[in-house]
Amino acid sequence: MASSTLICDTEPWKNLRAHVEDIKKTHLRDLMSDTKRCQSMMVEFDGLLLDYSRQCATLETMDKLFKLAEAENLKQKIGRMYNGERINSTENRPVLHVALRAPRDSVIQSDGKNVVPDVWKVLDKIQVFSETVRSGSWVGATGKALTDVISVGIGGSFLGPLFVHTALQTDPEASKFAKGRQLRFLANVDPVDVARNITGLNPETTLVVVVSKTFTTAETMLNARTLREWISAALGPSAVAKHMVAVSTNLTLVEQFGIDPNNAFAFWDWVGGRYSVCSAVGVLPLSLQYGFSVVEKFLKGASSIDQHFYSAPFEKNIPVLLGLLSVWNVSFLGYPARAILPYSQALEKFAPHIQQVSMESNGKGVSIDGVPLPFEAGEIDFGEPGTNGQHSFYQLIHQGRVIPCDFIGVVKSQQPVYLKGEVVSNHDELMSNFFAQPDALAYGKTPEQLQNENVPQHLIPHKTFSGNRPSLSLLLPSLNAYNIGQLLAIYEHRIAVEGFVWGINSFDQWGVELGKSLASQVRKQLNSARTKGKPVEGFNYSTTTLLKRYLEASSDIPSDPCTLLPQM
Ligand code: F6P
Repeated sequence: MASSTLICDTEPWKNLRAHVEDIKKTHLRDLMSDTKRCQSMMVEFDGLLLDYSRQCATLETMDKLFKLAEAENLKQKIGRMYNGERINSTENRPVLHVALRAPRDSVIQSDGKNVVPDVWKVLDKIQVFSETVRSGSWVGATGKALTDVISVGIGGSFLGPLFVHTALQTDPEASKFAKGRQLRFLANVDPVDVARNITGLNPETTLVVVVSKTFTTAETMLNARTLREWISAALGPSAVAKHMVAVSTNLTLVEQFGIDPNNAFAFWDWVGGRYSVCSAVGVLPLSLQYGFSVVEKFLKGASSIDQHFYSAPFEKNIPVLLGLLSVWNVSFLGYPARAILPYSQALEKFAPHIQQVSMESNGKGVSIDGVPLPFEAGEIDFGEPGTNGQHSFYQLIHQGRVIPCDFIGVVKSQQPVYLKGEVVSNHDELMSNFFAQPDALAYGKTPEQLQNENVPQHLIPHKTFSGNRPSLSLLLPSLNAYNIGQLLAIYEHRIAVEGFVWGINSFDQWGVELGKSLASQVRKQLNSARTKGKPVEGFNYSTTTLLKRYLEASSDIPSDPCTLLPQM
């Protein structure tokens, strides 16, 4: 075990703690009237505009946060990440997702080796393969072109690609390239998810991409075996070679599964699962759907932010500012949650993706050196696109708990509509909410204002808005592949900044292991109870009772395995 010095023992942390009292005396109504402050809290980069003037923070707060970053050697930690040092110490791995989108001629070293050529070797292979499939040169077992893809994977092998796919679906350029094609995602081991995925698909025209970093994840492997059975049952076992490909770091297991290693797309241990959307994990299914040229733009957008994050001074560095503000909100102001509110339906899967990136990365209870943290790290992330969220949980955000909000808006809609006779276009209508909500949260509405509006006395407490609720606004010029890449990288790096400052390891995920191993004990028990009639044993009273009820109530289900595919 190394050093036990924690960030909370440093002077900058203590200064920020003391500074909370100063901030508690302020109200965003007043802070927002200071134009100089507001000007300083706006940052532009590569078409993006970040406005964090509605944070409960002053310029002094920012200064103190920069000192905190210095105390935790943020600059050096970012450098160590880009230099390929093994900063994921509990797994002894570098953290190099930035290499996945690095320009072809750049140099990013891991263990003294430039990894960029390896990255581009796989990208080139994806480009060739996806074009072969898309052009109809690669055909299925019965000679038909493969127009539909099911990507099988879970967690990082699912959420990032789903987010990007959902965001691209209505982009005019991307959707043109996707004409006549379908991309679906199978993640849950629930057979209902299999049924939903295969409904309406013909195995003859379907390509299954099995995506798993480890190629051992229980859910993914059972789903992959189920789809292998679906293909074999319809087209014969030899069809698997034409209808199944894989993305993994474990090419030995890919081959053992029965997928031709030539049809496997590699990535590397230095890519964390939740940071893998820019590897073959996302690039392969997305290229099959939209063509490699669109996906390359997405990679370029992410790369632009990578360069900004690496080189911009902290005062102008979007991911650094966002990360520091999150630490301020969570650790000092005591707001543990964050709402991610994109005013764009195309970003409907952004919050679910960021949930994994953020909560699996920073939901830790000990420092990187294994010292229990005397403060809470991590953030509770949730979100929905505006305006849907407004009609759901915004009540709580406006008058209940204080939840710092990220408002994400887009200048140009992917699908503009402007009806004759309407006051504004449909997108302007949406964006009216994007601009209004942050001010509603910041300013609120006072009892005096309500009295002046002749609101009946008994309703005044109910109609009062305290205000002083922090948010930030991020305005994107449009939502094309490039901007989607930018957005992804901003959040990935923001989360890394939080972890670096908290002094935790944001790149391991031991917390997911215990549940998995307990599930394997239950799996064994279910098998021996169903096939050998063995009594339930070795569990506590509660689990025993539940298991018994489950077994008894499902005793009419055949106990011997037989091939049963979902029917819908
Ligand atoms: O949920 C745990 C986890 O290990 C994630 O970190 C990962 O994204 C997911 O499982 C899937 O893992 P794999 O890609 O190895 O199947």
